[in-house]
Amino acid sequence: MKRDLIIVLLTVGFMTPSLAQSGDVTRGQQDFRACAACHSLEPDRNMTGPSLAGLWGRKAGTLPSFDRYSDALKSSGIVWNDDTLDRWIADPQRIVPDNDMPFEGIKESGARADLLAFLKEATKPGAAPKQSAQMQMNGMMGGGHDPNLKKIKPAQQVRAITYCHDTYRVTTADGKTRAFWEHNLRFKTDSSKDGPEAGTPAIMPAGMMGDRASVIFASPDEIGPTIKTQC
Ligand code: HEC
Repeated sequence: MKRDLIIVLLTVGFMTPSLAQSGDVTRGQQDFRACAACHSLEPDRNMTGPSLAGLWGRKAGTLPSFDRYSDALKSSGIVWNDDTLDRWIADPQRIVPDNDMPFEGIKESGARADLLAFLKEATKPGAAPKQSAQMQMNGMMGGGHDPNLKKIKPAQQVRAITYCHDTYRVTTADGKTRAFWEHNLRFKTDSSKDGPEAGTPAIMPAGMMGDRASVIFASPDEIGPTIKTQC
């Protein structure tokens, strides 16, 4: 008898916090759009922020494949669970002052509960979403990861870049040359498996108006030698 009572008490004690926090996974998936520009749910696919795959039980600032943690987060001693994540998402600077996550927080506790309900499912080992779903989210956010740059059309394969006064001219494999004001062309690298082939940088549109673009190289060593000053 006594033992049964203890079990009942334990069960009630155990369930109360999770009941109080039970969120709506579907709404939480929508809320995750606030995070998806910077965080993927695929293991080791790091973007501005670390991959969140396998988050529960992880010590803050310890994903080995992520090179950009702040000292503040690394030395915080936090272990991620329902409680610490709720406080982090509510106000990251309050729980870890001087951390590097540019996010002001979600003040509404119901929205945080929804988001955590979704994240808890989606970050479980083996729960990585289909790449297309992640890409779709990134597309909606206008950020995140580029598509596979080894499989691009000739119109996006860069053959030559010249620079004259304030203008870059980019010639692509389809024979066309486009001019860009120097402020409107960005040079990036992508060393991931989806990055471009060595020697074949990719040009990708950036921004709404079509006047901006990024040229993405396989390695920084290619950037200087590819650009010829020539008027
Ligand atoms: C603008 C980019 C950006 C957005 C938006 C963003 N994060 Fe982050 N996040 C980061 C960066 C950068 C870090 C690393 C911070 C540091 O090292 O101080 C980080 C760290 C984290 C960590 C710690 C991970 C670890 O390995 O210790 C968690 C958890 C996290 N973010 C969750 C979220 C959630 C949930 C959202 C959406 C509500 C979100 N982030 C929105 C960039 C972002």
